[in-house]
Amino acid sequence: MTLRSRIVGVGAYLPVRVVTNEELAAKVDTSNEWIIERTGIRQRHIAAEGEMTSDLAIAAGRKALEAAGLKGEDLGLIIVATATPDNTFPATATRVQAGLGMTKGFALDVQAVCSGFIFALSVADNFIKSGQVTSALVIGAETFSRILDWEDRTTCVLFGDGAGAVVLQAEKGRGDKSDTGILSTHLHSDGRHYDLLKVDGGPSSTQTVGFLRMEGREVFRHAVTNLAAVVNEALVANDMVSDDITWLVPHQANMRILEGTGRKLKMSADRIIVTVDRHANTSAASVPLALAEAVNDGRIKTGDVVLLEAMGGGFTWGAALVRM
Ligand code: ACO
Repeated sequence: MTLRSRIVGVGAYLPVRVVTNEELAAKVDTSNEWIIERTGIRQRHIAAEGEMTSDLAIAAGRKALEAAGLKGEDLGLIIVATATPDNTFPATATRVQAGLGMTKGFALDVQAVCSGFIFALSVADNFIKSGQVTSALVIGAETFSRILDWEDRTTCVLFGDGAGAVVLQAEKGRGDKSDTGILSTHLHSDGRHYDLLKVDGGPSSTQTVGFLRMEGREVFRHAVTNLAAVVNEALVANDMVSDDITWLVPHQANMRILEGTGRKLKMSADRIIVTVDRHANTSAASVPLALAEAVNDGRIKTGDVVLLEAMGGGFTWGAALVRM
């Protein structure tokens, strides 16, 4: 008997305000055509003044709990993946814990930038598989609008705010690939590339919040290679081929990266969940937002094999193979 983490509920929250490419083009030297051609992004959601990462996380978490038929008090663990916490400390997850009425168990943040949700899912899965907790809420939530340099056209057009969440519950499995739940997770980082994608401030370095800085072309190059490698690793570990995957739910950074990964996997576009056009890159929120959208609109169904993948600053990258 093996313990598996089954996804029993998904939820999403997007701030009300939508900012179009045209709106950005009125402020910085860019155009709707450039942004669409290079990234596939048409619009992004931006948090309202005073609306914090924890607010987004609580809203998404609440919807995931409702979908699972559970309450905050039923949870043993909350993990929030974020690179834009409310405060340097305490962990944003503890505010989410209080907001959802969970008074037992524990809550923590995981920081792996755009790969954060995959990392957090893996951490929660390991707590469940070890028998330490029986139910967990894993949330990816970000307010990247707060760390963007709105005068830098090479970065400010790329990101948006949002949150997505999943509820995991322990379930007995056979221990083979026919099980339901998370079949495997695969995590990597390579700190030699720290400076290629980072925020140029922080409590210990500059005592400022700082702005996101990115060598876009270099990140792009590494993203395509690393994502293809980790996706392949997940398939090999489960003795599967790309035809066994029902849906690819990739990190939503750039339409061209999504298409590149799809081509390498020989997966047609109609098996890839795309939200980057409407959400832009929401960092740790992008994968659970895309997953929630496709589950809620009925595309992803019980029994489907879903491959989640992401790559972000650090560099960090990872994948998770799940049977829904
Ligand atoms: N509008 C108009 N022109 C622009 C803009 C803009 N918003 N931004 C850049 N340009 C210009 C550049 O200045 C450059 O001009 P030049 O040729 O005169 O110097 C030209 O467009 C081409 O710039 P590139 O950077 O070469 O454009 P590229 O095709 O590489 O696209 C992009 C840039 C979209 C950033 C791409 O490199 C990319 O998507 N990179 C990966 C980003 C990513 O995946 N991040 C994931 C991790 S994110 C995370 O972890 C937080």
